[in-house]
Amino acid sequence: MKILVLHGPNLNRLGQREPDVYGRVTLEEIDAGLRELGEGEGASVETFQSNHEGALIDRIQAARGRVDGLIINPAGLTHTSVSLRDALVASELPFIEVHLSNVHAREEFRRRSLVSDVAVGQVTGLGAIGYELALRALLARLK
Ligand code: DQA
Repeated sequence: MKILVLHGPNLNRLGQREPDVYGRVTLEEIDAGLRELGEGEGASVETFQSNHEGALIDRIQAARGRVDGLIINPAGLTHTSVSLRDALVASELPFIEVHLSNVHAREEFRRRSLVSDVAVGQVTGLGAIGYELALRALLARLK
């Protein structure tokens, strides 16, 4: 089983960026935890972060037929990117949307996600643990 985890813009700065909102865990720590969890479940977990919409879309296109499912925190692109949504739909891969913060308890514009209606599900507001829950849920679904 192969899972690709995608992180959108500014998530490379986790740990330093608005720690009151996003926590103190770094992206490297999140990715390492997911790889370890995956190993224990017999799955290989690949991770990729980009600040560029096109780079994320290229990665999703390349994943089609190569991985079994995706976990994605599209960050700010959640609320704006039709192209990212289109790439996810075209990949025909099941995916879970993750947000560290509770997007429903913040500014109005964060309540709208352009990907949640085509996702298997959304995990929001649970911090870094949300990624682990998403990985467990995706693997359970794929098995
Ligand atoms: C985020 C929430 C988004 O609204 C924001 O733009 C982010 C991070 C989260 O993980 O809580 O960059 O996706």
